[in-house]
Amino acid sequence: MTGLGPESQRIVIVSNRLQFTVVQDDNGIQFNESAGGLATGLRALLTSLANKPSYVWVGWPGSSIDDESRSEVKAKALSEYSCWPVFLSEEDLENFYQGFCNETIWPLFHYFPNYARYDEVYWEQYRKVNESFNVTLQEALNPDDTVWIHDYHLMLLPHLLRKTLPNIRIGFFLHIPFPQFEIFRLIPGKWRREILEGLLGANLIGFHTHEYGEYFLRSVQRILGYGNSMGRITIDEDDRLVRVGAFPMGIDFQKFYDAASGVEVQTEKEELQRSLGDSKIVLSVDRQDYSKGILHRLQGFEAMLETNPEWRGKVTLIMLVVPSRIGIADYEGMKKRIEELVGKINGQFGTVSWTPIIYQYRSLPFQSLVAMYAASHVALITPLRDGMNLVAKEYVAARHDKTGVLVLSEMAGAAKELPEAIIINPNNREEISDALKTALEMSCEEQMRRNIAMQNRLRRYDVSRWATDFLHELLSYEDPPVTWLEADVWRAVREDYHRSVRRLFIFDYDGTLVPFAGSPQLAKPSTESLAVLLSLTKDPRNELLLASGRDRVTLDRWFAGLPISLAAEHGAWIREQNGDWKVQQFSGSEWKRKLFPILEMYADRVPGAFVEEKEFSLVWHYRMAELNQGRSVARELADHLLIFTASIGLQVLTGNKAIEIRGAGINKGTAVQRWLAKTDFDFVLAIGDDLTDEDVFAVLPQGAYSFHVGATQTGARFRLRDPMEVLRCLGELAGCGLDVARSGTT
Ligand code: ADP
Ligand code: G6P
Repeated sequence: MTGLGPESQRIVIVSNRLQFTVVQDDNGIQFNESAGGLATGLRALLTSLANKPSYVWVGWPGSSIDDESRSEVKAKALSEYSCWPVFLSEEDLENFYQGFCNETIWPLFHYFPNYARYDEVYWEQYRKVNESFNVTLQEALNPDDTVWIHDYHLMLLPHLLRKTLPNIRIGFFLHIPFPQFEIFRLIPGKWRREILEGLLGANLIGFHTHEYGEYFLRSVQRILGYGNSMGRITIDEDDRLVRVGAFPMGIDFQKFYDAASGVEVQTEKEELQRSLGDSKIVLSVDRQDYSKGILHRLQGFEAMLETNPEWRGKVTLIMLVVPSRIGIADYEGMKKRIEELVGKINGQFGTVSWTPIIYQYRSLPFQSLVAMYAASHVALITPLRDGMNLVAKEYVAARHDKTGVLVLSEMAGAAKELPEAIIINPNNREEISDALKTALEMSCEEQMRRNIAMQNRLRRYDVSRWATDFLHELLSYEDPPVTWLEADVWRAVREDYHRSVRRLFIFDYDGTLVPFAGSPQLAKPSTESLAVLLSLTKDPRNELLLASGRDRVTLDRWFAGLPISLAAEHGAWIREQNGDWKVQQFSGSEWKRKLFPILEMYADRVPGAFVEEKEFSLVWHYRMAELNQGRSVARELADHLLIFTASIGLQVLTGNKAIEIRGAGINKGTAVQRWLAKTDFDFVLAIGDDLTDEDVFAVLPQGAYSFHVGATQTGARFRLRDPMEVLRCLGELAGCGLDVARSGTT
């Protein structure tokens, strides 16, 4: 472990729960260790760091603390744990923690929509508590700090913090699953938008698996209309980039591995095994939560005893359950059902000398937990849905002699990293029963083969590596240095221009040489734009290429009289100066026949939207539609098309109030590359305004100038404000003295 960042950098961790829970009783104030994946994971991380960066952990101390004790708790938390407590009132606990967090988000994100409650009071309190965290952060933060916010309790906080401190670096990690769009959309509209906008306040958003990241991106696309390119979302309003990535959380592998061979653990393990005689032990460990599939597990165990009488009296299920979220009705009801089922199975199969299930409802100290892991032949982990599940990893790590079998639900994030486990679907009691039998009868060699592979992986990708990868990604990113074209740069461009003898200009058309108009046919070239292009062509050292998404008939009609080259339909057709149109890549048109009716169906739903057919592409326009309706249907259409086109070599591009579908190999960049290969140009200038022009900027040689029109994210070197400014600049180079005063660049 190399440390989390530069020595001077302080990491501020923010989570609802701190690593300790404060208990006030007759003996005064006690700080007990918190349970749960987030607290144990982060605690392990901080204690495992050889080279500690300075950090502070901001969060709730686990109970409501009376006013008189707050200063004492704060002082001890800061001095002994480097923690900054955020005190929550009883009302916060009821409506924020138990309410919105654990009765709305938790069930929904774990695919239990029937348990989810949508209560305006919960939502308001959720907003309020996120605001309180923001207020505390203002007190706790230094300007150079990096902030790492954790989990579903604080999804509004990144945006709130960004509003207060626009330049601060913020990472967010979600410890639970992010659900599919159809589940996420069950959250009322205003809330779900605020949640997504809240998260997008971060620079980097991490999930345990790629799937959760993909589901998030899809919800962002459908609800907010932001597309993404390889997990990067551009927030146009404040010109920021948000990255989304998968960072599966690990455990402190070495700690569990070493502890398992320690004397205390060995003694406890032997005692436990002695007390159970020859019986093989199947272990399960979890917080008491309906997402953990505890009842399903019991039913599976019951089925195993029913169908395999030879195992009766020879196997014991030890079920450790940690009390959790007491006071929430769905949790309380579950406890009762678990106890009833344990009683039923024990009553049915137990004998005077054998109890099939030993059930403990309490938390265990670390050594005892490791002793349980070390003593058990099988770990049976059956969540119906789980973001990661650290217990599965801890069990494998604690198998010092490499034996032991992990039976793991495919619904846990951990299943992606532990394929050597026996993977089951917990919804089928027979599948659990069969897996148990296979596990109990597996040879030692096979157990070891599987565990060695899993241990190697868990050792490599441990909790420190998880945090290092996340923070490295967060800290390494700089916003691209794109600036408005200033006077001194513009002077240098002009000097280069006048010195050069072989020049290439590459222009986009719509949004670059002319502003957008209501319908494509109305955006004709203005007299000024034609005059500027004509003057540039008068200089024999200049070569001009107009690379547009327009069809070739339109380009011919508008530019036939000018000695310039044309690329139509994003480079599918090329007409060299004075030459004929030549097709560059034929992508067939069968797909157009299939997709056209779909686009038309979407156009029928939105007054003002229409479909444009070009030779090699189809475009769905909504420039003249009511904006919100147009945007919202466009998102749905883009989403729909992605599924259709993924496997047939087409690309779906979200343009300026339009969605375009075309063959995957065609783009302006490829067309421009062919020009660049022709001659050794000593001055190259490309100007464009939308995503399709980014392909051009990407292929330009070193030293070329690239201007992006507008404020959106770009790979171009400089920005111009609008087509008017483009014409002013070009007019100046051509010396055609357009009647326009240049702003900012003279
Ligand atoms: P979740 O985050 O949903 O609680 P995880 O499996 O990811 O589930 O994390 C649970 C954490 O709590 C693990 O690190 C585990 O060691 C700890 N834990 C679970 N049960 C107990 C227990 N009975 N005693 C002590 N620690 C426990
Ligand atoms: C999961 C969540 C954590 C939470 C933990 C325990 O691991 O992802 O954020 O802290 O469960 O739940 P609790 O409600 O006790 O904090």
